[in-house]
Amino acid sequence: MISLRNLSTTFTTGGNDPVTAVDDVSLEIDRGSIQGIIGFSGAGKSTLLRNINLLERPTSGEVIIDGVDLMELSDEELRQARHQIGMIFQGFNLVNNLTVAQNVELSLKFAGVAKAHDRRVRVAEALEIIDISDKATVYPAKLSGGQQQRVAIARALATRPRVLLCDEPTSALDPFTTATVLQYLADINRELGITVVVVTHEMEVIKALTDHVAVMESGRIVERFAAKRLQDKTFEPTTAIGRYLVSDGIHVDRRQQHDVDEASTAELAVGGRV
Ligand SMILES: Nc1ncnc2c1ncn2[C@@H]1O[C@H](COP(=O)(O)OP(=O)(O)O)[C@@H](O)[C@H]1O
Ligand SMILES: [Mg+2]
Repeated sequence: MISLRNLSTTFTTGGNDPVTAVDDVSLEIDRGSIQGIIGFSGAGKSTLLRNINLLERPTSGEVIIDGVDLMELSDEELRQARHQIGMIFQGFNLVNNLTVAQNVELSLKFAGVAKAHDRRVRVAEALEIIDISDKATVYPAKLSGGQQQRVAIARALATRPRVLLCDEPTSALDPFTTATVLQYLADINRELGITVVVVTHEMEVIKALTDHVAVMESGRIVERFAAKRLQDKTFEPTTAIGRYLVSDGIHVDRRQQHDVDEASTAELAVGGRV
């Protein structure tokens, strides 16, 4: 359904060396699947995700959705095509001086849904899906982070997209709220058949939600595997970064400084750290 072919995105900003954020990435995403993209900060995940709806137009390559190369469309055709693609962000990006319902309605106005009645029906439908109808007249500041993200999901769903792009959707949320939001994303995928692409630095999100995983480093996809392999205790990713991401937990060296100094000296003596 989504074919990314040889995508590259290079930023050239005033006098600095060009940064290739996405470097020759090709990826096929099946209809109705949940694709995870994991990597550290700066790997190029957000840029790649924004390439899919041309929010960030790639420098080269093809973005084919249902057989149409978005790169070839006119501005008006692209505007239409984008209604098929919803997006949510780590920071929710709600408009603070609009109510929940008005926030959702705004995306319908942008999508060109002209009749107020039609917009009202769709707003109600979207809030219902995400179980937040009771907050329709409330302003975002009165909502918890999890509720705000659910409103953002409702806003993305209002245009009835076929694809939902999620950029670190739970990174600003606590673990309990994260589970709730991921459950909604899973339900939307299953019940509405929406293809989900989720970018994250958290392996927990990948494990809980996705079908397929792509590991990104320095603008490239360096490894991919089926998410269910993560259930297998003996599974080892082939790349160092993949193994690091799969190894749960944060490891902090809490030896005393003089121990570290001695260890470093010893390691240097045998040819340095790896
Ligand atoms: N608009 C931009 N202008 C210049 N450099 C950018 C821009 N957006 C991202 N970059 C650079 O591209 C690289 C990848 O960034 P990003 O896609 O945000 O990575 P991630 O989401 O994995 O943290 C980084 O080096 C970042 O500084
Ligand atoms: Mg990012």
